[in-house]
Amino acid sequence: MSKRRKLAAGNWKMNGLSAELSNLDELILSNPNPACDVLICPPATLLERMSRRTAGSAFALGGQDCHVAVSGAYTGDVSANMLADAGAEYVILGHSERRAAYGESDTLVQSKAVAAHAAGLVAIICVGETLEQRERGETLDVIGGQIEGSMPRGGDCVEVVVAYEPVWAIGTGRIPTLAQIAEVHDFLRADLTGAFGSNAEEIRLLYGGSVKPSNAGEIFGVPNVDGALVGGASLNPSDFSGIVSALEAVP
Ligand code: PGA
Repeated sequence: MSKRRKLAAGNWKMNGLSAELSNLDELILSNPNPACDVLICPPATLLERMSRRTAGSAFALGGQDCHVAVSGAYTGDVSANMLADAGAEYVILGHSERRAAYGESDTLVQSKAVAAHAAGLVAIICVGETLEQRERGETLDVIGGQIEGSMPRGGDCVEVVVAYEPVWAIGTGRIPTLAQIAEVHDFLRADLTGAFGSNAEEIRLLYGGSVKPSNAGEIFGVPNVDGALVGGASLNPSDFSGIVSALEAVP
């Protein structure tokens, strides 16, 4: 039996003001003792206040990006140490929105993962193909290349979660077929085992892209899917609770 604990992760992206802190309270109240790990990645401005609310609960917090440096003259950026100092235990890295909008390369994502580990954070490394790449039959090559370039090397790999997020499924309501998800997740498990040996057995593989309460159960039934990275539906406490429940129901 797998030692991997399931993980439901919410990515709030650039959403959330003080008024939305009550959404976290609602989530914690509805999931007092979840049978899986639950993570919320709010905007950095809410981290510290949220960490006071998650203290003593089963909920963890994470950032959505970090700089490679610990500190310095990098106007507007946030370091991994700062995220940890504000209460984060995880950080999302290489999300396709950042890869596309800010030109983040695999090499940069890998450096950020090293910085995240130095700060004691678990790095959630995102990979995924565009629709054009899928239509050209390049999906596994693209994802293999992103893993090769973005993953930190050595023993650090166990402090990583990998999120497979097809770019065309993010925020669109379209999801791959279960067979397509299975193909990529099986490939990821084999690819990571090839690169990191038996340590890779501990790496959790999340699916992300238009996950909702109505499709979560079938997605979580796919082998090698250890949870989800959820955008839009994580902003609604009852939707996110529905996804957590679907994950808890997986044997
Ligand atoms: P979505 O976003 O659930 O809104 O599709 C997923 C993500 O970007 O992580």
